[in-house]
Amino acid sequence: MSRIVVRGLEKSYGDARVLERVSITAEPGEFLSLVGASGCGKSTFLRILLGQERQSGGVVVIGDRPIVPEPTPQRGIVFQRYSVFPHLTALQNLLLVEDFRSGGPFGRVFGARRRSARQEAETMLERVGLGHARDLYPASLSGGMQQRLAIAQTLLGRPQILLLDEPFGALDPGIRVEMHELLTELWNEHGMTVVMVTHDIGEAFKLGTRVLVFDKVRHDPEFPSAYGATITYDLKLDRKSRASARDVAEVAAMVGTTRLDSAIATTAS
Ligand SMILES: Nc1ncnc2c1ncn2[C@@H]1O[C@H](COP(=O)(O)OP(=O)(O)OP(=O)(O)O)[C@@H](O)[C@H]1O
Ligand SMILES: [Mg+2]
Repeated sequence: MSRIVVRGLEKSYGDARVLERVSITAEPGEFLSLVGASGCGKSTFLRILLGQERQSGGVVVIGDRPIVPEPTPQRGIVFQRYSVFPHLTALQNLLLVEDFRSGGPFGRVFGARRRSARQEAETMLERVGLGHARDLYPASLSGGMQQRLAIAQTLLGRPQILLLDEPFGALDPGIRVEMHELLTELWNEHGMTVVMVTHDIGEAFKLGTRVLVFDKVRHDPEFPSAYGATITYDLKLDRKSRASARDVAEVAAMVGTTRLDSAIATTAS
């Protein structure tokens, strides 16, 4: 299993510094919730962990080697929306994972491997409650179903690190709660390390074993993009007692959220 070590990470786009002095170590199996103001660099941080984006400075090590600047099956990502292929059915979307993984002729697998991939894909569809929707195209699935499909697709790649960028942001509150349960179950089963960005402080505390806030500590009013965000708060949660309402309120104030009610509600349960 892979440990994530980030030391002195910097990221700039031209003159604009987005991240600076970001250092963190995440042990295998931790569930990190990342919160922070819009535009502070959370998605950029995830893209760097994914290997989709290169840092401007510092070191990122996953497992025992620096990350390669390209996505590998070791890491999987689920975006807020639209991460499944619209022209493929639910099942075909999942079969694609094996095709990518094996890189066979024309990127497809055949014979016994195909049958076992199909079996695995069908089991995963059942697992996320989409067994009945196997042959449907994404357009005829609800937002929650599409998101379950995207999660199934990512998990089928058996990532050691699951990166989630506001994965439930577009969903109705009821569906969100269902997705929370599903994600917690899958995380318990697979034991992967999760790094999840969310705007919902309640969700951050409810799901994470650790809550991190990204914020700027240095400001230049003349040139707002002179300095980048760093990790300003890092709280490890105890699985049993969870967070106190004070911790939650503190983080909510840092992020400037208006969703404090939902945040406090989760600490009471
Ligand atoms: N490819 C890029 N080129 C130039 N600037 C970029 C690029 N990607 C992101 N940025 C800038 O970097 C900053 C951080 O963006 P990022 O998407 O990481 O923020 P975020 O914290 O995920 O925001 P949100 O909560 O709104 O999703 C923003 O100012 C954005 O404009
Ligand atoms: Mg973002």
